Amino acid sequence: MQPNSRWYSGSGIYRNVWLVKTNKVHIDHWGTFITTPEVSEESAKISVQTKIRNVTDRDQNVTLKTYILNKSGKKVASDITDTIIGPNSTLPVEKSMRLFYPELWSIENPVVYTATSQVEVKNKMIDEYLTNFGIRYFKFDVERGFFLNGEQIKIKGVCNHHDLGCLGAAINVRAMERQLEILKEMGCNAIRTAHNPPAPELLDLCDKMGFIVMDEAFDMWKLKKTEYDYSRFWDEWHKRDLLDFMKRDRNHPSIFIWSIGNEIMEQWDTSGIQMVQDLYRLARTADSTRPITTANNPPGPFNNLTKPMVVDLIGYNYHHNEYKDFLHKFPGEKFIGAETASALATRGHYSMPSDSIKRWPYRWDIPFTDGEPDNTVSAYDHISAPWGSTQEEVWKIIKKYDFLSGMYIWTGFDYLGEPTPYGWPSRSSYFGIIDLAGFPKDTYYLYKSEWTDEPVLHVFPHWNWNAGDTIDVWAYFNCDEVELFLNDESQGTKRKEGDDLHVFWRLAFKPGTLKAIGRTNGKTVLEQTIKTAGEPAKLLLTADRKSIRADGRDLSFVTVDIVDAEGNLVSRADNLVHFDIEGSGFIAGVDNGSQTSHESFKTNYRKAFNGKCLVVIQSSGKPGKILLKVKSEGLEDAAVTIHAR
Ligand code: GAL
Repeated sequence: MQPNSRWYSGSGIYRNVWLVKTNKVHIDHWGTFITTPEVSEESAKISVQTKIRNVTDRDQNVTLKTYILNKSGKKVASDITDTIIGPNSTLPVEKSMRLFYPELWSIENPVVYTATSQVEVKNKMIDEYLTNFGIRYFKFDVERGFFLNGEQIKIKGVCNHHDLGCLGAAINVRAMERQLEILKEMGCNAIRTAHNPPAPELLDLCDKMGFIVMDEAFDMWKLKKTEYDYSRFWDEWHKRDLLDFMKRDRNHPSIFIWSIGNEIMEQWDTSGIQMVQDLYRLARTADSTRPITTANNPPGPFNNLTKPMVVDLIGYNYHHNEYKDFLHKFPGEKFIGAETASALATRGHYSMPSDSIKRWPYRWDIPFTDGEPDNTVSAYDHISAPWGSTQEEVWKIIKKYDFLSGMYIWTGFDYLGEPTPYGWPSRSSYFGIIDLAGFPKDTYYLYKSEWTDEPVLHVFPHWNWNAGDTIDVWAYFNCDEVELFLNDESQGTKRKEGDDLHVFWRLAFKPGTLKAIGRTNGKTVLEQTIKTAGEPAKLLLTADRKSIRADGRDLSFVTVDIVDAEGNLVSRADNLVHFDIEGSGFIAGVDNGSQTSHESFKTNYRKAFNGKCLVVIQSSGKPGKILLKVKSEGLEDAAVTIHAR
C-alpha cells in the first residue's frame, strides 16, 4: 500500500501536460459547454456556451463563429455572433442551433460531432477551439432502470483503476484502447473510473467506442482513509477540483453519471449530512444534465450521505441481497450498482470442490492466514470477498429486476496494489475478470455468454491432473445444451435450469481428450476440445497487431503461449522466456498475470505463468520492421515481425 492511497496510484507526472499559448483574446480553458436539451429522431437543439476571455486593458469587438461538424467533417449547423468584451474579463456567449436528423450517440453507434469555435478580431481569426460532443437522450426510471434514446438498456459495467499493468500508471492511449476492446468483446458497455478523474484520453476512447461512464471525483473527503491521502488538501482544494473535473469532462457524450465519492468515511459521521448536500449543490452548478450519485457501503437511513436524500441515484456498493427490496426501502428512488462482486481469482488455477462458495478473507479487519500456500485463488467463480459476492450471485439479481439499472463490477482488470485476500508477497489484485497482463480469466466467458449474442461455449479447467483426481468441469454457454465427452465417452448432456449461469460435471480424471459439443435446436453450434498436454516444446506467439504506427507511442501486445509438440497449451508451464528485439521498436513491458511475481516489468525476460506471458512492444518513432525473437531453454525458438508505419 502506498502511504497516500489504497492502491498503486503512480506518482510524478503520469498524464499528458500541455502548455497552451494563446492570443490575449481567446476561448477560455475548458471554455465551451455543449448540451442537447431537445433531441428527437428529426431534430436536435444544440446549446453551446462559449467563454471568451480578454486579458487586454481595452474593450474588444469580437466575432464568434461556431460550426457543428458531423462525423465526416461536414458542416451541419453554424452560428455567427458579434459581441464586445470588456477589459480583463470573460464573457459567456450562449447560442442555440438546430440540427435536423441528428445521428444519435449510442453504445453500438457512438457518433461524435465536433463544434469548431473561432474567435475573430478585425476579421482575423485569432483563436480556434474544438469540442467533441454527442447527441443522445437518456433517463433513469424508478421502475424500469436505464433508458438510452428511448431504449431500455442494462448497464453492464466494470470499475477500473487507471494503471495499465506492466506499463504502470503513465498513460498510453493504445494500452487503454486495448483494455476497452477486450471489455467490449465481453459485452461490457460501461466503465466506472474508480475512484478518481481519469485521463481525458480514456473518455475520448469511451466516446468513440460507446461506453456508459460513471465519472468519479473522490475516494475520500475530509476524513482520511490513509495517512497521507487527499483529505489533507480537502479544505483548500475540493471545490476547485470538483468544478475543474466537471468542466473538463462535461462535454463527453460517454459520461452519464457523476460520482462525488466512493465509500466516503463521512457516511458514518454526521458531518456527511451537510457535506453531501453542499457538494451536490456545487456539482449542480457545473452540470444539470446528468444524475449525481455517491457509492455507498451500503446506503440506508443510517448512512449520512443518503439520509438527506439529495443525490439522484442511490449508489450501492455490494450488499446484493438487499437489491430486491430496493423499491420498498427507497420508494421513488433510482438504483445504480456502483460497485459489485469483488470476486477473486488467479487465472488458470483451480481448486476442488468447485461448488462450495468461500469468502476470503473471513473479515476485512482480521488478517487472513488460510488460503493457498502459493497465494493463488481458484478461478472457478466460487471465492469472493465477504463484503461482495461471486460474479454469478450478483449478476443473477441485477439481471432479474428491471428497476436495477445495472452495475459496475469490481473490477474489469486486475490492478497494481490491493491483493485481497493476501498480503506480501502478493502485489496486485485478484478481483479482475481479466488478469494484469490482459489475459481473460474464466468468468470473462460467463459475461460473454450472458452479455453478447455471439455463440459462446467455454469449458474449463485444463486437463492435466493426477490419475484418480476428482475434477469439476464447468461450462459457460449460450446455446441450448452441452454434451461432454471424455475420451469419446459421453458424460451426459446438460442444460441450465432456472437461473443457472453454468453447468458442471464431476469426473474421475483420466488423461486424454475432453470434448464439449454445444447444441441449439439439436444442431451443433460450437465445439471445444481440451487435451492433456505433454511436455513444453514450443513457443506460440500471437501479436494483437502486426502493424502499428511509427509514432513512438503505439504498441503491439505479443502473447506467448507455452505449448507441447502438438500445440496444446501447457497449463502449468512456468518456463523462463527471453526476448530480443531488432529494428524500430523496444520492449515497453513484460508480464504474465501472476499476482505474486516479483520479476521486473521493465526487462527482456519473463517466466510464463500458467502457460502464458506477455511482451509489449512499443514503436521507437521510426518507420520500419520490428523483429521480436523469443527463446526459452529446451524449447524451439520463435519470432514475429511487426511493421511500424
Ligand atoms: C471496495 C472499494 C474498492 C476496493 C474494493 C475491494 O469497498 O470501494 O476501492 O477496495 O472494495 O473489494
